[in-house]
Amino acid sequence: MENAFHQVISVEELAPGQSKAVELEGLSVLVCNVKGEFLAVENRCTHQASELEGGRIRNGMISCPLHGVMFDLRTGCGRGPLGKVPLRTFAVQVIGDQVHVRLTEPAEAQA
Ligand code: FES
Repeated sequence: MENAFHQVISVEELAPGQSKAVELEGLSVLVCNVKGEFLAVENRCTHQASELEGGRIRNGMISCPLHGVMFDLRTGCGRGPLGKVPLRTFAVQVIGDQVHVRLTEPAEAQA
């Protein structure tokens, strides 16, 4: 069950440069469209827990709307002293016109 991919949104719902939060097994997950590539991270900044939804996406990085820390949407790594703790990242598959996300535990993501 925990290794399953979950259908979350359709491709048309998310234009390039946009992000949308979805609820998955009690977790807020942010799905992002980076120039047609779909990526998913936890929708919670590791600095002070602000939601990242709507943050500016440029060059594969999202800026936290609250204090502007930038996180790499592929690796979760943050920039600068406020971004020391990486975001959780999740595997994404696009099947047809549907975006699917698989939740992974933090330990599994680092393995
Ligand atoms: S809460 Fe995101 S940068 Fe401070």
